[in-house]
Amino acid sequence: MVTTVGTEDTTDKLVSNLLHLEHDAIAAYDSTIERLDDEENRQQIEVFRQDHLDHVKKLEQFAGRLGIDAPTGGDIKQMVTTGKVALAGLAGDEAIIKAMKTNEDDTVQAYEQAVANTHADAEMKPVFAKALEDEQRHRAWMETASSQ
Ligand SMILES: [Fe+2]
Ligand SMILES: [Fe+2]
Repeated sequence: MVTTVGTEDTTDKLVSNLLHLEHDAIAAYDSTIERLDDEENRQQIEVFRQDHLDHVKKLEQFAGRLGIDAPTGGDIKQMVTTGKVALAGLAGDEAIIKAMKTNEDDTVQAYEQAVANTHADAEMKPVFAKALEDEQRHRAWMETASSQ
């Protein structure tokens, strides 16, 4: 899925959609953590999940500053390629991590777009850049872990 998150034409929509995306991603993480067999894989995914919680915290601060309601869940459209329901149907660490990697493609793309978005203000840019780095790191690990 090619995500349009990060390309919004207002700051409000940008922050709101990034929050939807993060909540969808976190729901997929929750589903994944329950299903992984290998303890090391599970611990690593848990560490990445904490990064996402940190992204949510920062985005909620922006929402507060903008005076908009911070979405507390995903969007009805589902903003990640392999959501929690699809993940729940998979078995085997390699298959699960490979599916999770498709979601990191979405989060990487979204933050690439958010960093370049002219409606992101000076305070947001470094936060989006840090989140992009995190998502790239998650994806790189998942690529390696699912191709062994
Ligand atoms: Fe994130
Ligand atoms: Fe991630």
